Amino acid sequence: MSTEHLVIFTPSGKRGHFSAGTPILTAARQLGVDLDSVCGGRGICSKCQITPSYGEFSKHGVTVADDALSEWNKVEQRYKDKRGLIDGRRLGCQATVQGDIVIDVPPESQVHKQVVRKAATARTIIMDPATHLYFVQVEEPDMHSPTGDLERLQRALKTQWDIDGIRADAAILRKLQPILRKGKWQITVAVHQGHNDAHSRIIDVWSGLHEGGIYGLAIDLGSTTIAAHLCDLADGSVKASSGIMNPQIRFGEDLMSRVSYAMMNPGGDREMTKAVRVAINELTQEIAKEAEIDPWLIVENVFVCNPVMHHLLLGIDPVELGQAPFALTTSESLSLDARDLELTAMNSSGRIYILPCIAGHVGADAAAVALSEEPNKSEDLVLVVDVGTNAEILLGDKTRVLACSSPTGPAFEGAQISSGQRAAPGAIERIEIDAETKEPRFRVIGSDLWSNEDGFAEVTAVSGITGICGSGIIEAVAEMRMAGLLDPSGLIGSAEQTGTARCIPEGRTNAYLIHDASADGGPTITVTQGDIRAIQLAKSALYAGARLLMDEMGVETVDRIVLAGAFGAHISTKHAMVLGMIPDAPLDKVSSAGNAAGTGARIALCNKASRVEIERTVVEITKVETAIEPKFQEHFVAASAIPHATATFPELSKIVDLPAVSFNTAGSNKEGGRRRKRRG
Ligand code: FES
Repeated sequence: MSTEHLVIFTPSGKRGHFSAGTPILTAARQLGVDLDSVCGGRGICSKCQITPSYGEFSKHGVTVADDALSEWNKVEQRYKDKRGLIDGRRLGCQATVQGDIVIDVPPESQVHKQVVRKAATARTIIMDPATHLYFVQVEEPDMHSPTGDLERLQRALKTQWDIDGIRADAAILRKLQPILRKGKWQITVAVHQGHNDAHSRIIDVWSGLHEGGIYGLAIDLGSTTIAAHLCDLADGSVKASSGIMNPQIRFGEDLMSRVSYAMMNPGGDREMTKAVRVAINELTQEIAKEAEIDPWLIVENVFVCNPVMHHLLLGIDPVELGQAPFALTTSESLSLDARDLELTAMNSSGRIYILPCIAGHVGADAAAVALSEEPNKSEDLVLVVDVGTNAEILLGDKTRVLACSSPTGPAFEGAQISSGQRAAPGAIERIEIDAETKEPRFRVIGSDLWSNEDGFAEVTAVSGITGICGSGIIEAVAEMRMAGLLDPSGLIGSAEQTGTARCIPEGRTNAYLIHDASADGGPTITVTQGDIRAIQLAKSALYAGARLLMDEMGVETVDRIVLAGAFGAHISTKHAMVLGMIPDAPLDKVSSAGNAAGTGARIALCNKASRVEIERTVVEITKVETAIEPKFQEHFVAASAIPHATATFPELSKIVDLPAVSFNTAGSNKEGGRRRKRRG
């Protein structure tokens, strides 16, 4: 027993006794300490880095002598010379136990690293993706006991990594022999172990140690926009985020018009399937270029999408989703090959996971929002609203969760808005209007300066000021209402009524001028009466959906609201409430979560246990159908006013004074435009 030494790992606190000469990596494995290794202890991957600590540790009741680990060896020196190693670090597979020792495992050496989300309600993602890299030494062929190269690779994976029953497709078989020989029988294998697949499979092979990493895409396939995050599957970091417009828009702006396109035009569904797959391939190329990686290293995609997008991505005619009882072909999650969906820009043996749908109108995107925001684990009653062309709305707590989707149309994503555009450099994302002078100031994506600050013109010279994105239009309309340029019914006042020349006539209505660059050949950015109407329709649908869930739950108020939206745009909670997009609530109880559906996709990409979790959760969510519910229409009509025709919004009125203006001159009320202040 005298040669047994105490080894304590931090931060896990795991400890055990090991005989002198035991490599730290071996001790870590035996104790179940999370210490990474791709090369299996051969001293070439450097994933097993550890930091030994020396001296007196009264907390652990141990004193660590300077010679508690074996001496720095040649392998470590070689690694340090070639790649560099932080001072004080050792390779866990090389350093062996010689005395009692305290070992710290730095975060980058942990397999199941935690990735902290940026949002206020930070939830950590534990890294455990379905696809991992393994370095193996494969036996050379022997004429006296003939076996295939794949069989010997399978044996190596079993003996060196305890991975059983691995399959390889024809693409892998075609490249296996030259890769093995080039690597002198040492190769790196990307192995996919799906949570619901019968077999593990090889996604790719590289000669020697592959150090280029492997990546995955988390894709939020929306009706108007397709947004993707490219994630490093080793540590979950987002290497690039990008988005494009969904080209299916040319077949119809909202879901139902796309379903009717498929109904009216034979082969229309196939056209739409082709268009979206081509767009995803383009997006894959683009995002890989941005991150400066080979798109071939993208080995996994996770998709979240509404039911119509889901069917069209899969090549299924969505006709049944256009009519009651809105039957899905399947609501279960799907694990597929990239080639099944003609996703040719990524690794051809790559895998696809599509989250489960909740019901005919409530899709995998709502499931992703549930995975990200976890209403089913909430102590208080939370309303989660994911704003998009088709909004996903969830209401619940740990006892019960309800979900619906609401057809808001594309206005909140900047489409159907005269100066609208997608969130990109040059788009106005923030706006303030001075209540006295009625003058606007704004900020565009790509700059932190307000338009009235020094240096703004220089910073925006490249991108220009090109339009208004979704979060910008929400602020613009709410600011117009707060500044008395817009009345509760949604009418924009004239220059005479509002006292500002920025209200310009447009036909029989008025528009508010935000920015005029026409003298330099640039755009004139206005909010028109048509824009206001589009926003009113969208926000009424959103509010009505939320109200319907509250009716179903039997509540008049909610404890907390989470506002999420595509592209990670952070919607201003105050402006959303002025607009009446969401029910009244104390403003400090309303938070903005960025792209929750995209985050849900990222969680499912980085952690395969979360796939099991969401598959279990969705069957417990009660779905409410807005399309056939007569009360939806009633709520919709009342919600058209800004903020609302009948609800009083007492919490909002504590913080905002909304001017009681009226610009309806139909009754020739000359005083219509005069401002009278009232609260609420
Ligand atoms: Fe690869 Fe130590 S396990 S270098």
